[in-house]
Amino acid sequence: MSETPFTPSPERSAEVPATDVGYPKELEGAVTGFAARPLRVRPVRADDAERLVAFHARLSPGSIYRRYFAARPLLTPQEVSHLTQVDYLDRLALVIEDGSEIVAIARYERIPSTTTGEVAFVVRDDYQHRGLGHLLLDRLAVAAWARGLTRFSAITLLENRGMIAIFEHSGFPVTAAHRDEEYYVSFSIDPADRRDPSSTSGPRVGST
Ligand SMILES: CC(C)(COP(=O)(O)OP(=O)(O)OC[C@H]1O[C@@H](n2cnc3c(N)ncnc32)[C@H](O)[C@@H]1OP(=O)(O)O)[C@@H](O)C(=O)NCCC(=O)NCCS
Repeated sequence: MSETPFTPSPERSAEVPATDVGYPKELEGAVTGFAARPLRVRPVRADDAERLVAFHARLSPGSIYRRYFAARPLLTPQEVSHLTQVDYLDRLALVIEDGSEIVAIARYERIPSTTTGEVAFVVRDDYQHRGLGHLLLDRLAVAAWARGLTRFSAITLLENRGMIAIFEHSGFPVTAAHRDEEYYVSFSIDPADRRDPSSTSGPRVGST
């Protein structure tokens, strides 16, 4: 993917060490208001490899293309390791589970020497358009801010109205630009900069 045309925020230190700070159990929660039984949100774990492969196998080619900008019917073992093994600081991913199945995953990766995290989302097709993407952005921003990041950036396809709407409705002060078919967003995740997000009757996270 091409580089984003945005510059990192200078206000907070980019010197947070990239050490494994351990599994952040406080990011676990029950997702209510989605279906009769609650889903669960939690940080990804190394033992999610098989579940992630199964999740990927159930994505439509269109969803895979919008996530990876390429046809990618199978993830390589290296990609699975990269996606499931994170340090919970500079690289963090949240999954949503329905029972034992992963149905959505969102991640940030800190751009080296900055306090900006690049984010990416994918929700299984049969769970899309019901608020999970919006909820994941919310949770990911809270987790990133608590770990010293100040901004998120993302590259998405210009035609990806669902993803763009999530950013635009988030209440964060989003700046956007596009080049050819790619759409770039960048925004502060400082809670003080956030307007009330557009109201939705979508799912919410409660205690487990
Ligand atoms: C893009 C994607 C992550 C969105 O996830 P989602 O769970 O479907 O998203 P949500 O349901 O939270 O939001 C999507 C819809 O809700 C609307 N919405 C979201 N937040 C909203 C808010 N606060 N207020 C009003 N509307 C909102 C959006 O306009 C959008 O409308 P649509 O249903 O007509 O598309 C998902 O469709 C996906 O996985 N797509 C394939 C992979 C991909 O595109 N990844 C992005 C690469 S970064």
